[in-house]
Amino acid sequence: MLKLTAADLRNLPAETLAVPVCEEASIHPRGPVASLVRRALGYEEFTGKSGNELHLYDPPRCSMRRVIVLGIGPKDKVDAEALRRFAGKAVKTAIEWRLESLCLEAPSPQKLGLDTRTLLKALMEGACLANHIYDRFKSDPKKKPLQTICFRTSPGAAEAFSALPETVQTVCEAACLAREWVSDPSNEKTPALLAAAVKKRAESAGLRVEVQEEETLKKNKMGALLAVAAGSENPPAMVLLDYAPKNPEKTVALVGKGITFDTGGYNLKPSNSLDGMKADMAGAAAVAGTLLAAARLKPKIRLVAALPMVENMVSGAATRPGDIVSAYTGKTVEIGNTDAEGRLVLADAMAYMIDRYRPDMILDMATLTGACLVALGEKIAGVFSRDDRLAEVVLAAGEETHERCWRLPLPDDYKELLESKFADIRNIGTSRWGGAIAAALFLSEFVGETPWVHIDIAGPAYIKKGGDYCGPGGTGFGVRLLWEVLGRLRS
Ligand code: BES
Ligand code: ZN
Ligand code: ZN
Repeated sequence: MLKLTAADLRNLPAETLAVPVCEEASIHPRGPVASLVRRALGYEEFTGKSGNELHLYDPPRCSMRRVIVLGIGPKDKVDAEALRRFAGKAVKTAIEWRLESLCLEAPSPQKLGLDTRTLLKALMEGACLANHIYDRFKSDPKKKPLQTICFRTSPGAAEAFSALPETVQTVCEAACLAREWVSDPSNEKTPALLAAAVKKRAESAGLRVEVQEEETLKKNKMGALLAVAAGSENPPAMVLLDYAPKNPEKTVALVGKGITFDTGGYNLKPSNSLDGMKADMAGAAAVAGTLLAAARLKPKIRLVAALPMVENMVSGAATRPGDIVSAYTGKTVEIGNTDAEGRLVLADAMAYMIDRYRPDMILDMATLTGACLVALGEKIAGVFSRDDRLAEVVLAAGEETHERCWRLPLPDDYKELLESKFADIRNIGTSRWGGAIAAALFLSEFVGETPWVHIDIAGPAYIKKGGDYCGPGGTGFGVRLLWEVLGRLRS
């Protein structure tokens, strides 16, 4: 649990205090913390360099028993992300030490040139996200999350931002749940199992939930989605979530790619590329997390979400390259490559959402292309939209949350790459190049005139090695981003 406090060091509600320190500049107001910092800097081995760590024990005139002093580098380089990382490292150290609680000292916003809300929010996010441990399948879990994390700040700030801990915690917990779904192994998250897990959470959060099973999907003529599902023994399912406040300002539809495992189908992936394909439902996990956060924080926007869950497998019943199927919109699609399955599933889910809810805008999030990974690497998502204002909102939200996004183009003349000799469209481009763009252009053919943004999270959805505030596995990327996007759409 996160808490703000203005307690002085003689009455701190934790036995351990973590203090951020900059090289060659003070970032704390004069007083007892500044003296602790001076003491730390008196040791040759501690300079405040980023990653530098020093432990002090039983400081005089303080109630706490330990102080973790952590270097965060030169002051002019300290931004919100540096504070998230500081908080994350402090929490990870405390978890290593098997502590139950930790207090983090907030530096002075004035001295860092940051606004107080940004500063406190960053500390809380880093701490809350780092306090998540994925150990569902360990028989003998070694680490335990901290029970309480408090943030020490000025009495004025503690009062002004008293509601912040709960908001941050709600969004970060949703991100951690998304992480867990992504990290879960595919044998434990078949479409039916994942749909049931999401349904359970969504119902207890008070969302309207509908799970469409194979029969309904067939009845609704979702031919593109069903073509992907054809090769699996585990039938597909589509979860629909609806957060409907009274008199909403607008309706936003969110769609997340939910491929519970992507073998590639008959265009089978090579061994190395199969690794990590359990994470091919990270878009669905992020969208589900966002709706769970919304159900608790109650924004004035109606949110409708579709999570198409499908396993892309090989069998005698699987779709073949060259097959032609009919999508929900009636468009015929030639399957040029069975590994380009995400766009098929999304095309049907998005068209269905537009038909059913007539949203003011639609946003999809998907681990869509390896090409996006090649273009932007493992930490940055690709953003595609014909609507400049919407794209700007997403990019700005990416800056704010450090779930970084980069806009890529949707050039009309590249559409000819998707031309099919036999059907209305083909699911892959004829060129080896520009794969992320070809995929986005394919999607654009199924959203009509509805303002739309596509976010390709193939890179940042999953990490093999953990970071300062994220363990290895699913990252929960997208939940904080989407929540921030929704906040910016309202204002
Ligand atoms: N799920 C993959 C994309 C992906 C790759 C996500 C690596 C995360 C990490 C997607 O379904 C896929 O296989 N895309 C193909 C498309 C190609 C066949 C046109 C790709 O990117 O190679
Ligand atoms: Zn694929
Ligand atoms: Zn895929």
